[in-house]
Amino acid sequence: MKMRLMSESVLGRRSLARMAAHIMLACGIVGAGYTATAAESAPANPVALTQGAAIYEHYCTTCHERGDGNPGTQALGFLYGKDKAALADRDNLTPDYVRFLVRHGRGLMPGFRMTEINEEELNALAEYLSAGPHPVAQTK
Ligand code: HEC
Repeated sequence: MKMRLMSESVLGRRSLARMAAHIMLACGIVGAGYTATAAESAPANPVALTQGAAIYEHYCTTCHERGDGNPGTQALGFLYGKDKAALADRDNLTPDYVRFLVRHGRGLMPGFRMTEINEEELNALAEYLSAGPHPVAQTK
């Protein structure tokens, strides 16, 4: 009886650890390594995409435009390689990841407050970037 209880508690701890790993995966805590699969991405809404592209041009391209000399593009090129350096060239950004980065910032990137980019605009921006890659800017 005593043995049985002990082995049950060992099992319990193991499945707790497994559960924690699943929760971390589900929340995208694994961050940069987490990529969207085709099944997860909802069909893109054209109005949101146009709005998202405009917000991207306005707030993000100062640092994330393609080419050298843009701090965001340079940092991401260093982290992930040249073909993943510009955000518009990425095919693995999830909406949640974009929303998190925009609100919290990272390193040289500032976080953006709701008074700058409101929730609706942020959702459109996240939808636009996660629908990439975008070979040419859609606002031009
Ligand atoms: C002042 C420059 C600057 C501005 C403006 C800026 N960023 Fe960034 N961004 C950066 C830098 C630098 C990094 C790399 C941070 C690091 O890891 O050190 C980055 C990283 C990111 C990442 C992480 C990409 C990855 O896969 O790790 C995302 C997403 C992102 N930015 C989105 C945006 C969006 C969307 C906007 C516009 C709302 C924006 N950024 C505006 C400088 C900027």
